[in-house]
Amino acid sequence: MKKFLVLVLALAMVLSLAACGAKPPAEPAAPAEEPAAETPKIGVTIYKFDDNFMSFVRRAIETGAKDKAELVLNDSQNNQATQNEQVDMMISKGVKSLAINLVDPQAAPTIIEKAKAAGLPVIFFNKEPDAAALASYDKAWYVGTTSSESGVMQGKIVADSWKANANWDKNGDGKIQYVLLKGEPGHPDAEARTKFVIDEVKAAGIEVEELELQTGMWDSVKGKELVDAWLAKHGDKIEYVIANNDAMALGAVSSLQANGYFAGDKFMPVVGVDAIPDALEQVKAGTMVGTVLNDAKNQGGATLELALNAANGKDPLEGTQWKLDDKKAVRVPYVGITKDNLAIAEEAYK
Ligand code: GAL
Ligand code: CA
Repeated sequence: MKKFLVLVLALAMVLSLAACGAKPPAEPAAPAEEPAAETPKIGVTIYKFDDNFMSFVRRAIETGAKDKAELVLNDSQNNQATQNEQVDMMISKGVKSLAINLVDPQAAPTIIEKAKAAGLPVIFFNKEPDAAALASYDKAWYVGTTSSESGVMQGKIVADSWKANANWDKNGDGKIQYVLLKGEPGHPDAEARTKFVIDEVKAAGIEVEELELQTGMWDSVKGKELVDAWLAKHGDKIEYVIANNDAMALGAVSSLQANGYFAGDKFMPVVGVDAIPDALEQVKAGTMVGTVLNDAKNQGGATLELALNAANGKDPLEGTQWKLDDKKAVRVPYVGITKDNLAIAEEAYK
C-alpha cells in the first residue's frame, strides 16, 4: 500500500511539473499507468462451485474484479474444514481482504478469528452469519438479501395463481394440499422461505394442508428424487409444489414430466426462487407458475465492490450505490417473477 501511495504521489508530481505554466490536467493522478501488479489480491470462497445459483454470483464477482483485483478463488466443496484451510492459505498468500460464502452459517466466528488475527477485512455473502458474529468485528460485513422477502413474494405468487385457477383445487375442499422442497436446514434463506411462503398464503385467506416437507439441499437431482417418491405416494392428491429454490423446482418439473404432467390436461403448479435462466424457460413454457428473482449480478457485484474497497483501505461503501443496515449488511432486493415480468429477471442474469 505504501509503495502504491509513493508511486501515485510521484506520478502526480511529474504530471504537475509537466503541466507547469500550462492548464492543469483534468485528473492529474489518473491511475492510467498504474502497473497491473498493484491490483490487490482478494481471497474468495464459494461454499461449493456445484451450486447453480452460486455459479452466477461467482461470475458477477469475476466480472467485477476484472482489471481491479487479483482473485484467489476457492471451491470449498461443501466442507467447512476445507474452507477454514483455504482461508489460512489465502492469508499466507497475502490477500488484502476476504470475501467468504460460508459452508456452515455457524462458522462465521472461526473465520472472523482468522481475519482478525491477520488484520484483514472480511465480507461474508449469501449465507448470513449471526448478527452477534458480525457485530464482534468492526471489519466484518455482509452482502445478501432479506431472506423473508423471498418467501413473502413466493407466497403471493402461490395465492394469486390459486385464486385465479379454481380447477387447481382437485379435491374441491378449498385447501391447497402442498408439498415443499426445503433448502439446506439451518440456512437463513431456507428457514425463512419455508415459513414465510406459507404464512403469506394463509394471510391471503387460503387454507393449506402440508402433505410433505423435506430438504432437497438446494439440489436438482435430490428435488427430483423427492418428488418421484411423493408422486408415487400421493399422486394427484398433491395440488402445489413449492420449492425453496429453482434448482429443486426444476428437479420437480422433470419428475412431473416423467409422470405424464404438462401433457394434455394433466397439470401441476410449481414455484421456485432465484429466477435462474433455466427456470425462466420453464416459466415461459408454462411448466413453472413463477419464481423470485435472487439478484446474482448485484449480490456478486456488491460483494466485490465492498471487498475491493476494504482491500484498498477505503470505506467499504465508497463510490458504490449500496447502504448498510443496522446489522452491517447490504441487502439486495428480491423481485417476484411470473410470465408478465420475465424481462426483469432475464436482464439480471445477462
Ligand atoms: C440461496 C439460493 C439457493 C442456493 C443458496 C446457497 O440464496 O436461493 O439456490 O444457491 O443460496 O447458499
Ligand atoms: Ca384441495
